[in-house]
Amino acid sequence: MSSTLWRPKILLIKKQKMTFDEIVNYRRSVRHYKNIPIDSDIVKHCIEQATLAPNSSNMQLWEFYHVTNPEILKKLAVACLGQQAATTAQQMVVFVTRQDLHRKRAKEMLTLETQNVQKNSPSEKQAKRIKTWNMYYGKVIPFLYSRFLGILGVFRKIMVNLIGLFRAITYQVSENDVRVVVHKTCALAAQTFMLAMANEKYDTCPMEGFDSRKVKSILNLPFGAEINMVVSCGIREENGVWGDRMRVPFEEVYQRI
Ligand SMILES: Cc1cc2nc3c(=O)[nH]c(=O)nc-3n(C[C@H](O)[C@H](O)[C@H](O)COP(=O)(O)O)c2cc1C
Repeated sequence: MSSTLWRPKILLIKKQKMTFDEIVNYRRSVRHYKNIPIDSDIVKHCIEQATLAPNSSNMQLWEFYHVTNPEILKKLAVACLGQQAATTAQQMVVFVTRQDLHRKRAKEMLTLETQNVQKNSPSEKQAKRIKTWNMYYGKVIPFLYSRFLGILGVFRKIMVNLIGLFRAITYQVSENDVRVVVHKTCALAAQTFMLAMANEKYDTCPMEGFDSRKVKSILNLPFGAEINMVVSCGIREENGVWGDRMRVPFEEVYQRI
């Protein structure tokens, strides 16, 4: 007697990996996501990949808030001015700068660089290299990253302008300049994250249209934290991307020297 039981066939759909070119082209800012959950472990992995982004002096003055809680997502959508990219998002990642952690990070980096020298440098060069790292993370970085009502930046500007009379030097040392550095670094992590998500065929939308006070309060962030970007996540709805991709002619922005 033959069995009448119907057994569903397990379909093993192997995700086809994209090339880098395909990933870059696949990534679009998506404003309307499908009402389909996405895997938070995959999103978390993409955030881990984002931490491999280049960052100034390896200070890693960033934090990533991976929001999956539906109540918090609703609040965040309001803080993101009710944009559809936020209201339809399945998850969100808030990219946060933490310039206020510069002393802690400089200490951590000094320890890591010292270990790195001990492991990889010839023994006769170790003392000198460790001294250089001590100078850099122990003195230069704390001096450069400190903030006090803009005054420390003015002082640093005067200093570099004087030194600049005799040798090449970085002039971007005002308190606002350093703040830009920290945000630049965080934005590189955000871009790495969005490409990592595209690699998983997950969609994103970077948003700077948000009420930063509300976002900070929802996430209970300390005074020194700043919101760099909110990135909504999900799977694109059929019309989730607004039209064709538009860029000014490449020749207008490309200069070969
Ligand atoms: C820093 C930054 C902030 C952005 N803020 C918003 C935003 O608040 N809302 C939005 O819908 N798109 C936002 N975008 C997405 C841009 O509009 C989008 O990247 C641009 O139109 C190019 O489209 P594409 O990303 O699909 O190539 C932002 C992008 C960046 C890089």
